[in-house]
Amino acid sequence: MNLLHRPRRNRKSEAIRSMVAENSLSVNDFIFPMFVTGGTGKKEEIKSMPGISRFSLDTLLIELEEVVALGIKCICLFPNYPESKKDKYATESHQEGTLYLESLSAIKAKFPELAIMTDVAMDPYSSDGHDGIVEDGKILNDETVEVLCKMAVAQAKAGADIIGPSDMMDGRIEAIRIALDAEGFQDVSIMAYSAKYASAFYGPFRDALESAPKFGDKKTYQMNPANSKEALLEAELDVYEGADMIMVKPAFSYLDVIKLLNDNFNIPVTAYNVSGEYAMIKAAANNGWIDGEKAMMEMLLSMKRAGASVILTYFAKEAAAVLNRN
Ligand code: PBG
Repeated sequence: MNLLHRPRRNRKSEAIRSMVAENSLSVNDFIFPMFVTGGTGKKEEIKSMPGISRFSLDTLLIELEEVVALGIKCICLFPNYPESKKDKYATESHQEGTLYLESLSAIKAKFPELAIMTDVAMDPYSSDGHDGIVEDGKILNDETVEVLCKMAVAQAKAGADIIGPSDMMDGRIEAIRIALDAEGFQDVSIMAYSAKYASAFYGPFRDALESAPKFGDKKTYQMNPANSKEALLEAELDVYEGADMIMVKPAFSYLDVIKLLNDNFNIPVTAYNVSGEYAMIKAAANNGWIDGEKAMMEMLLSMKRAGASVILTYFAKEAAAVLNRN
């Protein structure tokens, strides 16, 4: 054949392939989500998330030495509370000296260079298992935002670098920004969970936190997977309200939404590679059905290609080890 163009020439060797690669992964891209629980000496593996555990604070601080040594620069901490600490108003979320807030301070004291992102939503502390205050089966927006502001300020006081509202209430980014600034936390960042979908892929996470909703679902606040224009609106509001970074969650089934937000806004877009995405790869790999390591790297790279600057992923440690090896 007389071909002027033979695209395969750019794939002929590893040297050429890596030279013309359009995207790459770096350990700097990762935020590692971690779970803290009460007590001491605990490391409880989450059944649906092989390789991921709930740690008590003492063992978490030891685990973090490994995380930091791998070059990971940011973690996102989530708390696991017993039912006895939960109530309708998530009171535990903003009281002083609680497990979560103490953990943030202890991590910051031991690893001052490590950035810590928090989670702002009522579900880990809510006896209803919802992200907001429930009244007559409805989630109250404005009353919930007041609780979220208290939570955010308490987390900032405890040493958080990035506040991560994952609740999807309307108007919470502006309210939290104002609350943080009023307390002198102008330097604390906000990562807005802007396009957070009502997804089946959060199942393993709810196992980890024992935070599944006690009734109904989260469809009156989390987004319909059918929509992408709505993601633009949510992101526009969050950017306008003062978000420093915006997020798409889940990531893998929503790569188009990552691209859409990255094309339309001039702040970093984060992809949340959620628990169900992690569990799917682990389950298939543990059955010998796919090459887990290759599938992991391909999945993460696809998020970069779609336009994500940052990836929140349970694979952070494993992927960092692969990148450090290469
Ligand atoms: C709750 C929250 C959820 C996740 C992060 N924050 C679950 C939910 O909305 O029910 C899910 C993360 C994951 O699945 O990895 N505010």
